Amino acid sequence: MKNTFGQSLQTTIFGESHGPYIGVVLDGLAPGIEVNDDFIKEKLALRRPAGAISTARVEADEYTFASGVFNGKTTGTPLCILIPNTNTRSADYDKAGRVARPGHADYTAMCKYHGFEDYRGGGHFSGRITAAIVAGGAIAMSALEKKGILIGTHIYKLSDLTDREFSDIKNDISALNKKSFAVLDEEVAEKMIKAIEDAAKDADSVGGVLETAITGLPAGVGEPWFDSVESILSHVLFSVPGIKGVQFGAGFDKVCERGSNFNDAFRNEDGKVVTATNNNGGINGGITNGMPVIIKCAVKPTPSIYKEQQSVNLNTLENADIAIEGRHDPAIIHRARVVVDSVCALAVYDMLAARFGTDYFTQE
Ligand SMILES: Cc1cc2nc3c(=O)[nH]c(=O)nc-3n(C[C@H](O)[C@H](O)[C@H](O)COP(=O)(O)O)c2cc1C
Repeated sequence: MKNTFGQSLQTTIFGESHGPYIGVVLDGLAPGIEVNDDFIKEKLALRRPAGAISTARVEADEYTFASGVFNGKTTGTPLCILIPNTNTRSADYDKAGRVARPGHADYTAMCKYHGFEDYRGGGHFSGRITAAIVAGGAIAMSALEKKGILIGTHIYKLSDLTDREFSDIKNDISALNKKSFAVLDEEVAEKMIKAIEDAAKDADSVGGVLETAITGLPAGVGEPWFDSVESILSHVLFSVPGIKGVQFGAGFDKVCERGSNFNDAFRNEDGKVVTATNNNGGINGGITNGMPVIIKCAVKPTPSIYKEQQSVNLNTLENADIAIEGRHDPAIIHRARVVVDSVCALAVYDMLAARFGTDYFTQE
């Protein structure tokens, strides 16, 4: 479906980094969902660049609803959000003389679109498009919150630094969602910020690992094989530019251990089936078991770095060196965290609508 994701709720994204607009269309939303502008703006602010750890290209993200909202509520017809691009500096890209940025999509975009692609600022492949995902994701997220489903992400690893894992998940999520730099341990946060600043000073970039928790999901959501909860979530997570790995529960960290150590024992807690540990990350057989869904995502270092690199000129196919100009993030991870929350919200909304029907979100 190219630029569209989902079955019951279909999310379509469009736009280019230096075009007039980027945006999102959500088709299949329940009618009557409250559209809270403060909530959408709060989420967009978490993605917006700030300070030396982000790109100098700051956009106000002053969006408009082109359709699908009436009297502050969703109508249930396609909801379209338009976000103008106002702070572009396309000359930086003309100067690059079409030398492919290593690690970016310049070369693969040319292979697919035969040179017709708008390459300025990474065009359709730019992290800029994720603002539209965040705006759309905020609508899904506010509907999920009304159902008691919370999503939060923190920077678990960056360079050689590690945050603590989730413990009291609900409180951790609510603390994280107020933080512009999402790290649970403040001391670690300061060190991580310094590591990003140091990479920037070296004309370089740095990556890491995000950890996401989704709580409040009822047991019994998902499909057994191709549309397992892991399949749907990893599909949408791998759509986020820069994500190169996805793990559920203890995943790669613990799979080499014995079953007796990996299995999550079932217990009855006040009449509810729970598990004593959560190595399976809240999913068994592709279906939610009612425990929090825990995901780790590997986020690569930003490809556009100012250090000189070897590449190829896309016009002549000759070897060429590239020293990138333009404005770039020395790390993607701290801005990607809310993008990860947003794609998870869209996917979880889609799975719940498939399981319980469109009106589930507006039923008491
Ligand atoms: C929020 C966000 C911001 C990003 N900022 C930049 C950036 O400033 N410079 C850059 O080269 N890549 C940036 N990226 C990553 C590229 O868009 C991505 O690496 C590129 O499209 C290639 O895709 P891939 O890394 O998934 O293979 C950003 C990604 C996200 C999610």
